Amino acid sequence: MNLFPDLKKKYTKESLSAREAQRLAEFIAFGPVIFQTARIMSKWGILEMLRNRNGGMTIEEIAKETAISTYAAKCLLEASLCIGIVLIDDKTNRFTLSKTGWFLINDPATKVNIDFNHDVNYLGWFNLEESLRKGKPEGLKTLGDWPTVYEGLSSLPKHIQDSWFGFDHFYSDNSFDQALEIVFGYKPRTLLDVGGNTGRWALRCVEYNKNVSVTILDLPQQICMMKENIKDKKGAERIDGLGVDLLDEAAPMPTDRKFDVIWMSQFLDCFSEEQIVSILKRATKVMNEESRLFIMETFWDRQRFEPAALCLTLTSLYFTAIANGNSKMYHSEDMERLINEAGIVIETTHDHLGHGHSIIVCKLK
Ligand SMILES: C[S@@+](CC[C@H](N)C(=O)[O-])C[C@H]1O[C@@H](n2cnc3c(N)ncnc32)[C@H](O)[C@@H]1O
Repeated sequence: MNLFPDLKKKYTKESLSAREAQRLAEFIAFGPVIFQTARIMSKWGILEMLRNRNGGMTIEEIAKETAISTYAAKCLLEASLCIGIVLIDDKTNRFTLSKTGWFLINDPATKVNIDFNHDVNYLGWFNLEESLRKGKPEGLKTLGDWPTVYEGLSSLPKHIQDSWFGFDHFYSDNSFDQALEIVFGYKPRTLLDVGGNTGRWALRCVEYNKNVSVTILDLPQQICMMKENIKDKKGAERIDGLGVDLLDEAAPMPTDRKFDVIWMSQFLDCFSEEQIVSILKRATKVMNEESRLFIMETFWDRQRFEPAALCLTLTSLYFTAIANGNSKMYHSEDMERLINEAGIVIETTHDHLGHGHSIIVCKLK
């Protein structure tokens, strides 16, 4: 298996002492409560208070300022000490923020991941085991009664919707600047945005180039949300939307014309391997020799830093338990095989955009 260097170093050799390994095993055993402790310490502003207070704070001061009991403060702070998000001065008994605690409140990716895991996934993780066995998102029932999460997106309660979109947008938004340079290097006039969601990429495209027109393909519910979202925005008259369920093998892409660019951002990870081949084959029907298909994905094997690969392989299990039961964050070699099966070829690959995206540029054979 090909792995980028940082991952290879971490994943091919044991690097922990026995004591460290035992600690990590206990970290896993208490995973749910470790997560909740850290989340509450952040939500209640305790980590932030510790960051801002020179010389740290005592349990009593923390309890007073957050209006919680000394008992609650003691439980939270002692657990936080042992999970490594705060430190204590053993002479003064004053707590300060640790490096990990600092990341919890300052690293935007960590904040987005915590909200996503708490609001969208937490209850559903309980059904991961049966989801893996059945290939169905058995945890999705904790959010609503839909075959996949995508049918439910537009009707999720506001705070859950915010966390879902916060997670989705955080990753793609951060790559858009570099992606625009790459895509518009091909001088497209027509662009098909497959799985275009709320229209953020389409809006960036019409802003970036005055001549391009964008067609968004997505589920009908998302097309309604997209129209609402782009209303009154500059260039919106050059964006149109088509509601279609691409899981329906018979659902074609708009075949009345060919597109210069087909754009699939964080889209193919919503589908199983067979479904990806079917979708890519249908995409070839709206391409000509000059067209290029751009697949933007976060491939776990192509990450520069190991924590990113950790986030991605664990996000795969969100697809299992919540999203659809059969898709994942793919290894780039798997994606390459599926692209070849669909009868198209890879022209070039760009790595390390934003928070770890790659763009695979494909053309007809
Ligand atoms: C993870 S989001 C990616 C959104 C956007 N392209 C981005 O980069 O942020 C996947 C998108 O695919 C759409 N989608 C999922 N299943 C679909 C289906 N069966 N047919 C059409 N669109 C689908 C979802 O509605 C959603 O908008």
